[in-house]
Amino acid sequence: MSTGDYGDRGNKDASIVNPKGGGTMVATVGTGKEMRTENAFLVGDSMTGGYGKDGPDILHDCTISVDPGQIAVIVGPNGAGKSTGMKALFGMLNLRQGSVRLDGEDITNMTPQTRVVRGMGFVPQTNNIFTSMTVEENLEMGAFIRTDDFSDTMEQVYNLFPILRDKRNQPAGELSGGQRQQVAVGRALMTRPKVLMLDEPTAGVSPIVMDELFDRIIEIARTGLPILMVEQNARQALEIADKGYVLVQGRNAYTGSGKDLLADDDVRKSFLGG
Ligand SMILES: Nc1ncnc2c1ncn2[C@@H]1O[C@H](COP(=O)(O)OP(=O)(O)OP(=O)(O)O)[C@@H](O)[C@H]1O
Ligand SMILES: [Mg+2]
Repeated sequence: MSTGDYGDRGNKDASIVNPKGGGTMVATVGTGKEMRTENAFLVGDSMTGGYGKDGPDILHDCTISVDPGQIAVIVGPNGAGKSTGMKALFGMLNLRQGSVRLDGEDITNMTPQTRVVRGMGFVPQTNNIFTSMTVEENLEMGAFIRTDDFSDTMEQVYNLFPILRDKRNQPAGELSGGQRQQVAVGRALMTRPKVLMLDEPTAGVSPIVMDELFDRIIEIARTGLPILMVEQNARQALEIADKGYVLVQGRNAYTGSGKDLLADDDVRKSFLGG
């Protein structure tokens, strides 16, 4: 799939980019879930489900998707089901209803391992690095599915995050929070994914480090890799989002372009601090 036409990032109004309405950004702010997802690269469509066999449903008819070459951002209060939605897309949840599609293929019944092979790179919210292993060993672990020479990819990761090159022989657990997140993102990139999923990549870092991480994420997206991320820094994240989702209690509350969500009074008052 060509993603070369998507180089211009951030705050993009898809109705302008795609005036014929073939895109997925059909829902307007306030109408909850989007109705069109057929062009999405990755979509969890109308997902309902919870943890374990008999656990209560956490997600309720929840739709999340990311289009080719775009950044999609999920925001919402603590416990809204943002991480659960990511896990559902990655195959870590038994869905009672709904489906997951990757590049047009139904992957609902695939294991997470198979999804990695199919091109999904996932950085979970917690425990996303091996703290006792060195930085370089973490990156090597990321390449576990590859049988080819991955030294070029490692070089790309080191070019993206130069501090990791300096610290490559240090145990990852000795790194700062922001550097650990770089290791986690780098590890996911080592599989050469077709879509990158990040759950709160800037959690617990200072505003300056957050800005730097966002810059790197934009840089990754510019290569054409679609990115779906959960962020607690809602305002900053929506500023770089082609599409934003506000989840509340496992449901789509608001869906729209990042720009539209930022401009919406209800979203601002309820979720962006006014
Ligand atoms: N492994 C689990 N087993 C059972 N319930 C869980 C599990 N993980 C999360 N939950 C429940 O699912 C709901 C949604 O949690 P989730 O972690 O998806 O929220 P979140 O939006 O990511 O929150 P946060 O902003 O704090 O990361 C919560 O009620 C939580 O208690
Ligand atoms: Mg979470």
